[in-house]
Amino acid sequence: MTPALALDDVGFGFPGRKVLEGVSFAIAPGEFVVVLGPSGGGKSTLLRLVAGLLEPSSGQLRIAGAEVRGPRRDVGMVFQKPTLLPWRTALDNVLLPAGFSRGASATERARAQELLAAVGLPDAASLYPAQLSGGMAQRVGLARMLLHDPDLLLLDEPFAALDAMTRERMTLLLQELWLSRPRAALFVTHSIPEALLLADRVIVLAGRPGRIQVDWRVDLPRPRRPETMADPAFNEMALALRREFDLVAA
Ligand SMILES: Nc1ncnc2c1ncn2[C@@H]1O[C@H](COP(=O)(O)OP(=O)(O)O)[C@@H](O)[C@H]1O
Ligand SMILES: [Mg+2]
Repeated sequence: MTPALALDDVGFGFPGRKVLEGVSFAIAPGEFVVVLGPSGGGKSTLLRLVAGLLEPSSGQLRIAGAEVRGPRRDVGMVFQKPTLLPWRTALDNVLLPAGFSRGASATERARAQELLAAVGLPDAASLYPAQLSGGMAQRVGLARMLLHDPDLLLLDEPFAALDAMTRERMTLLLQELWLSRPRAALFVTHSIPEALLLADRVIVLAGRPGRIQVDWRVDLPRPRRPETMADPAFNEMALALRREFDLVAA
């Protein structure tokens, strides 16, 4: 089967600074992969390469078999900051990939409204970003990511700025959205519990330049719940990851 995403020996550097070296991994269709790494380790750079916003210095990136040449409609993305346009309503922010209301078809508008309901905001369509809490804004971001029903999801620490309770709720919401229609996902975080609540596979990216240090399968049953964090298998894996992480981040 053609991988949803394949990286082959990818390297990248900014002038005078090598950020990534020899990064190779593939994501199968429907597989949820979490990249875990210390800050400054090149995680956002990796996502920007996959999103077609940066070009690799070496190696190859393929989405569904085709070389990445720029942003694609079948890839949905969420950033750490909500990146909502303050002068547009929640609905119009969900419609951003379709060119807002005027550019959007009736089908897209209906889908945007459905997605707002699916992320727990059935009544927020006409609210402006200033009227939304941080968690609500990221819910709008998740809805926007799903507008064109993408086969590949890219998420760059989307919940890192939220308080702990909201963050956990959002993590479980993301799992629920993904379980209702599993698709390839590449989720970046520096939180071990978040990684283990979401991942089919965890990849540790660390070092200077950043390289893959660990690529482990996470076989915890789904749906994962807050109670999953009390599961001995969860704790064992969290501890093993923490050791790897401390080792490579030191
Ligand atoms: N536009 C840029 N120009 C030069 N260096 C950059 C740029 N963006 C990021 N970097 C550097 O690349 C490294 C990796 O950054 P980044 O991918 O954002 O890491 P992470 O997301 O893991 O925190 C950091 O050292 C950062 O300072
Ligand atoms: Mg980052």
